[in-house]
Amino acid sequence: AAIEKGNYRHFMQKEIFEQPVVVAQTLRSYLRRVEQTVALPQIDFDLASINRVTIVACGTSFYAGMVAKYWFEQFARLPVDIDVASEFRYRDPVLEPGGLALFISQSGETADTLAALRHCKAAGQTIAVVVNVPTSSMAREADLLLPTHAGPEIGVASTKAFTCQLAVLAALAAHLAVKRGRLSREEEAEIVEQLVETPACLNAALAHDEEIAGMAHLIAPARDVLYLGRGPDYPLALEGALKLKEISYIHAEGYASGEMKHGPIALIDEAVPVIVLAPSGPLFEKTVSNMQEVRARGGKVVLISDAEGIAEAGEGCLATIEMPKVHPLIAPLVYAVPVQLLAYHVAVAKDTDVDQPRNLAKSVTVE
Ligand code: AGP
Repeated sequence: AAIEKGNYRHFMQKEIFEQPVVVAQTLRSYLRRVEQTVALPQIDFDLASINRVTIVACGTSFYAGMVAKYWFEQFARLPVDIDVASEFRYRDPVLEPGGLALFISQSGETADTLAALRHCKAAGQTIAVVVNVPTSSMAREADLLLPTHAGPEIGVASTKAFTCQLAVLAALAAHLAVKRGRLSREEEAEIVEQLVETPACLNAALAHDEEIAGMAHLIAPARDVLYLGRGPDYPLALEGALKLKEISYIHAEGYASGEMKHGPIALIDEAVPVIVLAPSGPLFEKTVSNMQEVRARGGKVVLISDAEGIAEAGEGCLATIEMPKVHPLIAPLVYAVPVQLLAYHVAVAKDTDVDQPRNLAKSVTVE
């Protein structure tokens, strides 16, 4: 059956709003709720024997991989190498026996990623793929297929595929951690509980849609926008910037917040809005001090945080967007929503072709 927009103005908008449902749908196949354990599809090799993970992807899928790197290191204590596919393939990477090569792709057909997959396969790596199209080339060529159940994604700008990828990667990180003896039963149960909460948290984030639409006029006139984040929210800053670039044609950059002072702060003046992603928690204070450096130079800050973070640092900001207070593990999924909505509403304000932005294709099948 043809996929319809229903009551939505654009596919991208519809897909943003589908996230609570499709993330829940995806998680359902990776979590055993009664036992409170993480479960992966049947595999015929021992994940405990993996000694290294190499993550390869492009674009938004690459940013999901960057978030996963933090998780694999933190929870499973596994060394992770990550690169964009077009670079990885041609830099002659060292691929030792016992390595898991993990490819992330919505389409499963991206030429750069597929070439990198075949390269790793020829080099004897175990191939895992997180993919949204189960009949795709990558799905067929994988040793371990980890599907996302986002359903067809029509908008060229990826949204629901991204959060579903994060859901699968969080489950995989927890599973690897269990296999490697790094998570107790209680800790695993706690992670499962947090993941089960995610769809409700996504709904809470979506409830800010109108408010974010009302902020679009603050960003739409800008020539440049910066996004800042730290730790797992750094890839979210990159993703926010990519979304804005793709559909509003505004130049945007994502930076690790601590890296600002090493150069990009020179760009700051009243004309450059700075979007700061800073959930309260262990990284909050440092991110906020980077944010204050921006403000001291006249920068106009939009702070995305929870009630606690906004109470502490929201004063004097151009705007604030309040997210629910969430476990650090699921923050990247929840914080994806406001950056998607912001990009969407800015693009609508600029009257661009949101679902079919200029110069872009949904699936890039040339290297
Ligand atoms: C995301 O909004 C992009 N349109 C693009 O970066 C995309 O994520 C990239 O081309 C990778 O596609 P894939 O996930 O289908 O491999």
